[in-house]
Amino acid sequence: MCGIVGFTGTKQAAPVLLDGLSKLEYRGYDSAGIAVRDGESETEIIKEKGKLKNLQEMTDNGKAVKGCCGIGHTRWATHGEPSALNAHPHSSDDGNVIAVHNGIIENYQELREKLMKHGYVFHTQTDTEVAVKLIDYYYKKYAPLPIEAIARSMVRIRGSYALCVMFKDYPGEIYCARKDSPMIIGVSGEDTFVASDVPAILKYTRNVYYIGNMEIAKLEQGKATFFTIDSEEIQKPLTEIKWDAKSADKGNFEHFMLKEIYEQPNVIRETIDSVVKDGKISFDTINLTDEEMQQIEQVYIVACGSAYHVGVDLQYVMESLTSLQVRVELASEFRYRKMTLNKKSIVIVISQSGETADTLEALRSAKNQGIKTLGIVNVVGSSIAREADNVFYTQAGPEIAVATTKAYSTQLVAGYLLSLQFAKARNEIEECRYQALLEEIYTIPDKVERILEDKERLQWYSAKLINIGDAFFIGRGIDYAIGLEGSLKLKEISYIHSEAYAAGELKHGPISLIENGTLVISIATQDTLIEKTVSNMAEVKSRGAKLMAVTTAGNYFLEDTAEFTCYIPKIDPLFAGSLSVIPLQLLSYYVSIGKGFDADKPRNLAKSVTVE
Ligand code: F6R
Repeated sequence: MCGIVGFTGTKQAAPVLLDGLSKLEYRGYDSAGIAVRDGESETEIIKEKGKLKNLQEMTDNGKAVKGCCGIGHTRWATHGEPSALNAHPHSSDDGNVIAVHNGIIENYQELREKLMKHGYVFHTQTDTEVAVKLIDYYYKKYAPLPIEAIARSMVRIRGSYALCVMFKDYPGEIYCARKDSPMIIGVSGEDTFVASDVPAILKYTRNVYYIGNMEIAKLEQGKATFFTIDSEEIQKPLTEIKWDAKSADKGNFEHFMLKEIYEQPNVIRETIDSVVKDGKISFDTINLTDEEMQQIEQVYIVACGSAYHVGVDLQYVMESLTSLQVRVELASEFRYRKMTLNKKSIVIVISQSGETADTLEALRSAKNQGIKTLGIVNVVGSSIAREADNVFYTQAGPEIAVATTKAYSTQLVAGYLLSLQFAKARNEIEECRYQALLEEIYTIPDKVERILEDKERLQWYSAKLINIGDAFFIGRGIDYAIGLEGSLKLKEISYIHSEAYAAGELKHGPISLIENGTLVISIATQDTLIEKTVSNMAEVKSRGAKLMAVTTAGNYFLEDTAEFTCYIPKIDPLFAGSLSVIPLQLLSYYVSIGKGFDADKPRNLAKSVTVE
């Protein structure tokens, strides 16, 4: 959840660290710190509570701190309140070991007690201080060898971590280790970088190494060497990241979220183009054959948050197009369920970051049962991408805003293509319908663009919603799936209490919550279900609800019931979700900024949830 950056090379480290951390603030932002060393001199540690700008001001954007080797961290508190004391980097009392850490050390109490028996004193409530002092203990006990000390600590630590460590005796060097927490290493000429996510170093290099689970790396000027936990050296290939450095910048937009909403037409198009060649879907790069698709009887779609909502939509799409049994599961539940999976099934995990702890574990538990897995993933080289049997990469590029928009839209389109290809491979769709649906998918980017062009009406209506206390999203089928996403968007960035219900469920309880002025947003794009949804709208209206509707162009009769209606261009109802979600993203964004919030960094949330 937190962000790590490290640098050793020929430049001044502090500005590089602060710049990198600014690109990672979306991962966590309650405090930040850096440790920088100038040659053999003492390491300077500066840390502060609050957003990174406090640290930037204290150090004159890093210019006041001298040295070409350092580590930095932006924190999202897990153990210990957000404070300058608990902020990273942490140091052993004699300054021998200094480190930053992402993740959670589950047995930190036990390790802390052990270390206290050996005379260690603890000044913070963090698990990171325990890791630092454990490494210091092994370094001093066995031999002053960094790799050895880290490896022995890794054997003792339970939990997840990405660690960057500096040792007093090894100036100019940074040591890294990871387990289930992302970390990449980049090299450019004489400069070496480490970061928990690509945007932090994209400005300097696109050539990266992926450090594997339970591996250790030693970073020196322009060089990275990798070791197993048994201290044996391993060779790794350099991978080129294709992302454009500009895509990790806000450009002329006030927020990343708005920029990312506007990037949707392009990234959806790129996701389609990545697998459609000459009017046909080809999964050569995904390594999923028609024969394999024919064998499958059951599909489990497993994910968290918005990615789970993608799964809910895809369940309807896949079941409409194929005879497959489809189940959508929350990864945090799926991983602990004691269920025997159908051997002829595929587990599709969906994740932007490719690092979500629950989704990764769900993937692993499916693999342990010998079930075939497919990841729909955005971040190249992420843990899920590396561990899944097959990977469909979405082409969203770096997504910085905490609330997902463009990654969600690309996941949805990837899922449509997958569903369509399942139907084709299994001979469950006629060629002309296949071609017609593929053409419909091709129209999505332009139609999204048209919705974005009409943003002023939504902006105007959003201004009327900033004092709303409660909101309900209702819809049936795919519209319900989109309601789930619209509701999450609204609540997570505007802090308005919001819930989504399948419209038919209203009468089974939730309708008792409707009173004068309660906002109800109805999504009504599914031709066969629209009349039923309109009846539900009338029911809530008669109880005082303030009603907004999202529907397809032509359904003007909804204006008789809703006070504000937003139209999406006509499209096959199977793919309407890709369009109806766009006004809901915009609405949430404008309500959030109308209330004076930072839409990019909602409170208590972090972009990638690498702990349970
Ligand atoms: C909400 C949001 C989250 C993520 C969820 C899964 O706007 O972004 O709900 O969808 O945390 O994250 P990934 O896709 O990285 O696994």
